[in-house]
Amino acid sequence: NNTRTRLIAGNWKMNKNYTEGVQLAQDLANELGHDTHGVEVVVCPPATDLKGVSGVIEFDRAPFGLGAQNVYWEASGAFTGELSCDMLKSVGCTHCIVGHSERRDYFGETDGDINLKVKALLAAGIVPISCCGESLEVREAGNQVDFVVGQIRADFDGVELESGDQLVVAYEPIWAIGTGKTATPEDAQEVCGAIRAALVDIFGADIASQIRVLYGGSAKPGNVAGFLAEEDVDGALVGGASLVAADFAAMVERA
Ligand code: G3P
Repeated sequence: NNTRTRLIAGNWKMNKNYTEGVQLAQDLANELGHDTHGVEVVVCPPATDLKGVSGVIEFDRAPFGLGAQNVYWEASGAFTGELSCDMLKSVGCTHCIVGHSERRDYFGETDGDINLKVKALLAAGIVPISCCGESLEVREAGNQVDFVVGQIRADFDGVELESGDQLVVAYEPIWAIGTGKTATPEDAQEVCGAIRAALVDIFGADIASQIRVLYGGSAKPGNVAGFLAEEDVDGALVGGASLVAADFAAMVERA
């Protein structure tokens, strides 16, 4: 129903040490083979695993891209504990998650921070996977669309996309993350459609029609096809199920 390349991205969160991460990447490469049938696949391991997973991608010709889970916008300097865009690029990152609800909730990340991160990533040629999503309280009050559109407008304020720049948005309702509760495909479409309309407003119709919008929150092999059948859902950002190579590969297969 649209021409956007489907994207299945795995967010490993704070799981898998170096040895385990390399093993998972190798297992995933074996499960996927060399052809993902037109589906784009990205894995986002912890920072300590990035170099090792990039080795697997290079030497096993594994059919997936590499993403980090966070970045800092400054180029270098006295920012203890942080990683720059250039550092991520130097270990092979092509993508980077920003604004995950866990970072917003536990580490105080604001829309202003996310905005600076998105701009720094685009300038460095790394594809941002920019996350948004409402809490249960917001959902129960029926304000999910306004809330998420507000996040999108703040996160992309002043962002300019030049030809060739890619941007990915992940809609992850917080109440569905790691809870086993999923949004229905219709819930996902309601918000992803509103996200697309906001993107048209911000970037214009041409660019907005190329931005992939993913669903995240207890996405699994058994439910991914339902989400992907929706007009404005172009893939999934997968947490728990991305830690099991066979499950993640099954989701790519179903995409
Ligand atoms: O970023 C992915 C995510 O937050 C969803 O996690 O475990 O519910 O698939 P999970």
